Amino acid sequence: MRILLGVTGGIAAYKAVLLLRLLREQGHAVRVIPTRSALEFVGAPTFEALSGEPVSTEVFDDVPGVQHVALGKGADLVIVAPATADFMARAVAGLADDLLTTTLLAARCPVVLAPAMHTEMWDHAATRSNVATLRERGVHVIEPASGRLTGVDTGPGRLPEPEDIAREALSLVDPSSVGAVPQDLAGRRVVVSAGGTREPIDPVRFIGNRSSGRQGVALAQAAAARGADVTLVAANLAQDVTDQVDAARGAAGRLACSVVSVESTAELRSAVRAAGTEADVVVMAAAVADFRPAATPDAKIKKVPGHGPAPIELVENPDILAELAHERLRSDQVVVGFAAETGDASGSVLDHGRTKARRKGADLIAVNAVGSGRGFGTDSNEVTLLDGAGDVVGHASGTKREVADAVWDAVVKLLP
Ligand code: CTP
Repeated sequence: MRILLGVTGGIAAYKAVLLLRLLREQGHAVRVIPTRSALEFVGAPTFEALSGEPVSTEVFDDVPGVQHVALGKGADLVIVAPATADFMARAVAGLADDLLTTTLLAARCPVVLAPAMHTEMWDHAATRSNVATLRERGVHVIEPASGRLTGVDTGPGRLPEPEDIAREALSLVDPSSVGAVPQDLAGRRVVVSAGGTREPIDPVRFIGNRSSGRQGVALAQAAAARGADVTLVAANLAQDVTDQVDAARGAAGRLACSVVSVESTAELRSAVRAAGTEADVVVMAAAVADFRPAATPDAKIKKVPGHGPAPIELVENPDILAELAHERLRSDQVVVGFAAETGDASGSVLDHGRTKARRKGADLIAVNAVGSGRGFGTDSNEVTLLDGAGDVVGHASGTKREVADAVWDAVVKLLP
């Protein structure tokens, strides 16, 4: 494939070097078109050496060759990574004041932008509107990852890992190639629950948890990329994760995934069981509340001055995973759970995971350590995979997408 890799001026430009190397390793011809400010971060010789092609920023560098038209028309795919807020604004306005913007106007192939910037800039109304306009025009804008940004701050705005950008971009041009993603879930129906349940206390309050839904959504996306027909049961996803699902679904059916939104454990249970009757695999990645308020009044609970807080009586929720594992909605169904553990005086993360694996009876349990910035809300994860007897059958760490693929690798081995 002939790929144009646009690089704009942000600190994440160094990751464009890794993306370039990856695309070249996969056998693609890549021509890098940096902006002037991108070259403040990475020098042209680096791009030239790794791509084996000349690098220029200006339309006037090769006037007789009418480079921008030749490059734009000859490309199978344009990827701009990182795409700065300034670059997206210029793309929206149709400016053509350097080789990259001019080439973009001439290109007729799929265009993928991978934005990277500080959270405040990404959230700014101008950027939101520019991203929406670009998406309306058919440009595929990848959701930025969440995590460590330049300096000490963290949040959405981080450039996704080069592997994730390459996979998402290549899947637009040739969904079956998808950077050699195996279609080992083709024809399989899978249900994935994601997010965290909310148990209503009254019409305005709830008991909830910190799950963002990132791991569950990564599982749904990975399964769809591997050919599965996916139902995502989404419980109160974080806003940027919801945006990510919408963006993926908007991209011409690329995510073969239907989404059922739920709030409480009762709703999640009904949705998972309804979709689960037909499913080959059910993955319970949602953080489900163990208890719910015994009663939910229709009216807001009022504070009575001088009387202190009224106690909230809790009752136990059904254990959806254990029910699925013990009942088996379909005899040959593979049931997968997650065990979010912190470890304590009575045992390590893995000890608790083993006990849980045996108690729940699922075919596979992915044990991960949570708390103090780990697991919830971050873009990376680390899990140990246990079978129903509590024996270790695998280990995975990396982005939530990489962990998701490792889980599916293990599931595929269990499928009849
Ligand atoms: N789970 C479930 N229904 C519940 C509670 C949990 O289906 N009522 C599922 C989760 O989706 C996850 C697995 O069970 O796949 C383990 O969840 P976790 O919260 O780690 O375990 P609990 O059973 O709640 O045990 P504990 O809170 O004591 O660690």
